[in-house]
Amino acid sequence: MFDLIRVSLFGASNTGGVPFDPAKDISSLAGKIILVTGGAGGIGREAVLEFLRHKPTRLYILDLPQPDDGEAMLAGIREAVPDAPVRFIPVNLASFESIAKGAAQFNEAEDRLDICLCNAGVMPVKPTTTPEGFETTFGINYLGHALLVRLLEKKLLQAAALPDADVRLVFVCSEGHVMVPKGGIAFDELKTSCAKLQYFYRYGQSKLAINLFMRELSSKHPQIRVVAVHPGRISTGIATELLKYSAIVRVTQPLTKYMTVPPALGARNSLWACTSPATKSGKYYEPVGVPDHESKLSRDPELCRKLREWTDEALKDYASA
Ligand SMILES: NC(=O)c1ccc[n+]([C@@H]2O[C@H](COP(=O)([O-])OP(=O)(O)OC[C@H]3O[C@@H](n4cnc5c(N)ncnc54)[C@H](OP(=O)(O)O)[C@@H]3O)[C@@H](O)[C@H]2O)c1
Repeated sequence: MFDLIRVSLFGASNTGGVPFDPAKDISSLAGKIILVTGGAGGIGREAVLEFLRHKPTRLYILDLPQPDDGEAMLAGIREAVPDAPVRFIPVNLASFESIAKGAAQFNEAEDRLDICLCNAGVMPVKPTTTPEGFETTFGINYLGHALLVRLLEKKLLQAAALPDADVRLVFVCSEGHVMVPKGGIAFDELKTSCAKLQYFYRYGQSKLAINLFMRELSSKHPQIRVVAVHPGRISTGIATELLKYSAIVRVTQPLTKYMTVPPALGARNSLWACTSPATKSGKYYEPVGVPDHESKLSRDPELCRKLREWTDEALKDYASA
């Protein structure tokens, strides 16, 4: 309850952190292959634009299927960054089948993956389940990314084995990871819509799982920098659902503009984590470049073990650990 009030009222600062100007501080990304989930909109799109200004070899956007195969979205990006080497892979992170298809498309096209930014996320107010029957928030924010990463892991490791490698796996987490049900993750409920949990607890447990997964991967793969970030409070599409279904969010909406910043600022922490020489693997950063503000549960080895075992079982038909 204390964390709920603290984060709701005083949340993480949108400003502060280490000095970082993406335009000047990111060096050339020549030679790098980049992948961004949820890169078609919000914070992810801003990260995509900034990466592209630094001329990577190729950048893949993984996002929900679009009616025109993403042509209009890609045209908008090429208008902002002419000749951008950007491609679109339609993936619904709620569906194992869609993730497996999208990962196969990437794996066929590339031998390496240098920067993987797991950014897509949702905060549905209504309790629902994914096609495989998992709670939707957990299914997309955590489980979908866990499957995707397992299917792309080989390409990250191949990039890490190359001379002068600097491989990054970055998860967009949230200060909301502290707002969780008793014990952190309601494992017994995850194969339901978790209707008994408020939407912010469903969101919080999905982001706590991201933090635990990040720490586990950083220990498993010391040759890769694996980190999580909180982007700040950003005016993006994630609030659309909240506006539709939450009376309190509708009432307080006039104040939103004083409490949020535009998506370009929200992308700074992801960009820093993906490119700065100072990024340390196994850390959660909130705000830009400031580590160690994660909850105690994010560092709980027993919870981490439980999550790994639960995930192995959930993904057993699609990816073994
Ligand atoms: N905004 C904030 O204040 C805030 C604070 C803390 C953490 N975050 C985190 O920041 C990340 C980016 O969020 P945002 O604020 O930029 O939200 P956003 O504007 O809603 O962008 C999220 C992106 O993910 C895509 N997406 C949604 N469901 C998907 C699915 N099932 N499969 C594949 N892609 C999917 C969205 O596509 P559509 O647009 O087509 O739905 C969109 O492009 C999320 O992980 C979020 O939890 C945001």
